[in-house]
Amino acid sequence: MKRAFYVTTPIYYISGNPHIGHAYTTVVADVLARTARTSGPAYFLTGTDEHGQKVANAATAAGTTPQAWCDELVPRWQKLFATYHVRYDDFIRTTEPRHESVVQRVFERLRDNGDVYLGKYEGWYCVNDETFWLEAKLVDGKCPTCGREVQWISEDDWFFRLSNYRDRLLQYYREHPEWVRPKSVYNEMVALLEEGLEDFSISRTNFDWGIPIPGGGGVIYVWFDALLNYISAIGWSSDPERFATYWPASVQLIGKEIARFHTLIWPAVLWALGEQAPELVFAHGWITVDGQKMGKSLGNAVDPFALAERFGADSLRYFLLREAPFGSDFSYSEAKIAQRHNSDLGNDLGNLVRRSLSMLFKYRDGVVPPGDATGSEVGAAMATLPQRVRSLILSLDFRGALEAVWELVVTLNRRIDDQKPWVLHREERDTELDALLYDLCEGIRWLAMLLHPVMPERTAEMWRQLGATAPIDADWSEALRWGGLAPGTRVVLGDALFPRIELDAAGS
Ligand code: MSP
Repeated sequence: MKRAFYVTTPIYYISGNPHIGHAYTTVVADVLARTARTSGPAYFLTGTDEHGQKVANAATAAGTTPQAWCDELVPRWQKLFATYHVRYDDFIRTTEPRHESVVQRVFERLRDNGDVYLGKYEGWYCVNDETFWLEAKLVDGKCPTCGREVQWISEDDWFFRLSNYRDRLLQYYREHPEWVRPKSVYNEMVALLEEGLEDFSISRTNFDWGIPIPGGGGVIYVWFDALLNYISAIGWSSDPERFATYWPASVQLIGKEIARFHTLIWPAVLWALGEQAPELVFAHGWITVDGQKMGKSLGNAVDPFALAERFGADSLRYFLLREAPFGSDFSYSEAKIAQRHNSDLGNDLGNLVRRSLSMLFKYRDGVVPPGDATGSEVGAAMATLPQRVRSLILSLDFRGALEAVWELVVTLNRRIDDQKPWVLHREERDTELDALLYDLCEGIRWLAMLLHPVMPERTAEMWRQLGATAPIDADWSEALRWGGLAPGTRVVLGDALFPRIELDAAGS
């Protein structure tokens, strides 16, 4: 029934300017979507989480209304994603009518079927994380996630009967040991389930920046509202055919601090609606500074626009995916970004392209010669590479995928060093030189296609320099057969793809 790969990011609170941590999840989702699109339809959703006390407080502090504040900030997020070459299919805002009507419909449906009931909430609330906390969970009387002050809340609220779903959740976790990754998060969630689940408050009456409860009595709690974006955007209850094309989501990417919402509450809400849980929720690690999560309020947030300007957005994308295994935390430093840029991208990849194309100019007037008629050794050795790369990416092993692609980079560089084209030229071993130059150009074509999901802009430039005319994002299984580059193709000499960045200038 399901016909498309559906990937989502969390929707972002727009309580301030975006930082590089916000670009992270969305870039990863973009890489997944672009890779999935090389073999079939994909749908990639991101957006903004606009209700709740945190956003309302930010608007008040700025002396404006929440709606005006959101309208002003949303373009900054869209610009962030454009700067990082992200190509989403849809950007949802939770203040849009298409979302608000779904949230109200869900509320009514669950109230009618008894999954939602009226009760009294008394307890602690963290505005920063928009999270209710039991007293026992507080650490030194503060929020256990972000360490900030919490406020006492006592109000009549609507509750979702989460406790009813505890056994089903435990069973589901046991039967689907891979549905939440990485394993550390899976284990943490199973431990929470074993402790037992409390019902979950889904309304707020002490402030009004939210979706009104149908029939009155406050607004819907921002997390309940926000989670539903994943289904409101794809036509839940309004376009069943479209919904069935995308749901259940293939991958929902989140940061590890919001795993509880996505892997305990979210599947239960979906089941209450008669829908399936997503196929995979992957909780990634944090970008840290001095061991702490990068964030606006800690004053350690890095401006993603300045960073893209300095290093190039594609180098940043590469860094984010290559630096640490996906799922682990990794510490941020400009020296590390510069190191990846200069070494992997500049020395290995950029120089390969530059050396190869300039030799083609020097020895063959910039025209791709015919390859070895008896078949290419490199081609044979790399035959399964595209399949391997695709499956590593789709299993979210981005670092492994990039290491696999680098086998081709290393092989081509080594061939230049071993075969010494300048010697072949001097000794007039023309057929051998032709075959080598062909393999280099064909290898560059493969690299451009394989790396396109990770570095869409720089690979498009590689493509241009190579003189390739076919679409760079074509189906890998068809386009990536050794010999695809037509002899006679005229290449273009361009600027260095990854100009060196001096470590001193980049800071350390
Ligand atoms: N609005 C909620 C999510 C609702 S989803 C139904 C939220 N928003 S957030 O803006 O605070 O964070 C969104 C996501 O940003 C996090 O899940 C995480 O993916 C990402 N990150 C924010 N800071 C980050 C780092 N320092 N490092 C890595 N990712 C970071 O939570």
